[in-house]
Amino acid sequence: MQNLETTYMGLKIKNPLILGSSSLSENADGVKKAEDAGFGAVVLKSIFEEQIISETNADINGAEGFNGRNDYLDVFSSVTKERYLEKYLDLVSKAKKAVDIPVIASINCTSESAWLEYAKRFQDSGADALELNCYIMAGNAKLSGDQIEKQYFEVAEKTRQIISLPLSIKLSWHFTSIANVVKKYSDLGYDGIVMFNHFFRPDIDIEKVSVCSSRFIQPKGDYSETLRWTAMMSGEIKADICSSTGIRDSETAIKMLLAGAKAVQMTSAVYQQGYEVAGKVASEISEWMERHNYSSIGAFNGLLAQEKIENPQRWERSQYMKVNRF
Ligand SMILES: Cc1cc2nc3c(=O)[nH]c(=O)nc-3n(C[C@H](O)[C@H](O)[C@H](O)COP(=O)(O)O)c2cc1C
Repeated sequence: MQNLETTYMGLKIKNPLILGSSSLSENADGVKKAEDAGFGAVVLKSIFEEQIISETNADINGAEGFNGRNDYLDVFSSVTKERYLEKYLDLVSKAKKAVDIPVIASINCTSESAWLEYAKRFQDSGADALELNCYIMAGNAKLSGDQIEKQYFEVAEKTRQIISLPLSIKLSWHFTSIANVVKKYSDLGYDGIVMFNHFFRPDIDIEKVSVCSSRFIQPKGDYSETLRWTAMMSGEIKADICSSTGIRDSETAIKMLLAGAKAVQMTSAVYQQGYEVAGKVASEISEWMERHNYSSIGAFNGLLAQEKIENPQRWERSQYMKVNRF
């Protein structure tokens, strides 16, 4: 086996394969399975502010005897919220005890106050790093792209100020200028940029004539946007890029590393093939390195980044002219 050791956000990892945040990492057992199967690090299931709020509301609605006593309700809701936060902090500490690989906690909040409160609590949770999962649905026609981005960066800046742990942001590609947004996060001192997140999307069930969720785990992953932006940004920013979305096999993982990713996250592949996919992908990367005489990840990492290739335009332009030639 070749040496697959690398560093991501200053964390030493035995290989560049990271289990992405999902129910696969919602308990210490899943995290241990990931380590045993060969993952280099794990991102825990996110704590969602919306989930805390909805579970807190459900608890309040189920509680008897308050009869509109708002003073009691305030106390009750903060106790319930605290309980869910504690539950997540407990997951971090159990996961840390269960494994030697780095454990990355993940937060998804919608309000600025919650971001800052949660981030502060995770600072001392024992996690090795923190991944922020941030997404503002740009569905308000009164808000411009600039105004929405301002919301992202206000929270980003304040969070960075209070967190001394390695900190990453997991972004979607729904920005007019992805390059500008990614660079700003890096300039704010973020250690890692996870590009990109993939969301549950609505669909329509034509038999029930109703709105439903689309199938989240697609049979085949589409990695093309991830690859393009990894290649275009890896030489431009100080932060490490962790490629995510569509990475199902060793071939795609190798492509991301060649494009300049310091690490890759895999999620759907594990739902489809089991945790063992990590060991298989790691040994196939090693075989490929041996065939190409690369003795370390550093020997080929970023070789095909935009700034390194002869014709950098190849990462930017779609080749419609060629395709349309009769
Ligand atoms: C069932 C499921 C649950 C997920 N839960 C989370 C989550 O809690 N937080 C998060 O940041 N991403 C979550 N994700 C997104 C994944 O971490 C990942 O970004 C996405 O699946 C794209 O990567 P993939 O193509 O390797 O699956 C979830 C994905 C799946 C399939």
